[in-house]
Amino acid sequence: MKKSFIAAVVALAVAAPAYFAFAADDFAFKSQIEGRQAFMQVYRFNLSILGGMAKGDVEYDADLAAASANNLLAASKMSNGAMWPMGSHTEAAGLADVTAAKEAIWSTYPDIADKGKDLTEALTAMAAVAGDGLESLRSNMGAVGNGCKGCHESYRLSRD
Ligand code: HEC
Repeated sequence: MKKSFIAAVVALAVAAPAYFAFAADDFAFKSQIEGRQAFMQVYRFNLSILGGMAKGDVEYDADLAAASANNLLAASKMSNGAMWPMGSHTEAAGLADVTAAKEAIWSTYPDIADKGKDLTEALTAMAAVAGDGLESLRSNMGAVGNGCKGCHESYRLSRD
């Protein structure tokens, strides 16, 4: 009994300084924030392929269009809740230059989850036809773009 009490005290003594060092670090939440920004870059990369074709900047390629649309759809279905820990918002001390995620994400939850579902819905329609021709791709671009924008307008700090 006594032994385990001592062990607990020792564990606390060891853990406490580490905790405070982490809390004082401006770069708390580093891996989660980097992870979700990389996740967004995967969206951007694949969407830019579809956008380039839709605009006529790049020649339409059915296989590449279908693959990019399927990548977007798969990404939108990826479980990503662990990338968004409470407290990792841009208004938090030390995080203004690190993340653009607004505090409203957590205070209005689960609205952001609904916005994510809106994007998945638009991407489901896109993935079903992206390989069927340029017109099919084009006719779904607006809805997909709105799926991204619909969430950014509410939950991502605009740096423009
Ligand atoms: C459900 C909400 C939501 C949806 C849907 C969404 N985003 Fe985002 N996005 C965010 C948030 C929040 C951030 C800010 C993340 C941060 O800085 O921690 C962000 C950041 C980004 C960034 C900047 C990443 C970086 O390196 O800092 C890009 C690019 C991006 N999103 C692209 C997209 C694209 C393209 C789509 C649609 C295919 C999309 N997003 C859909 C919420 C969303």
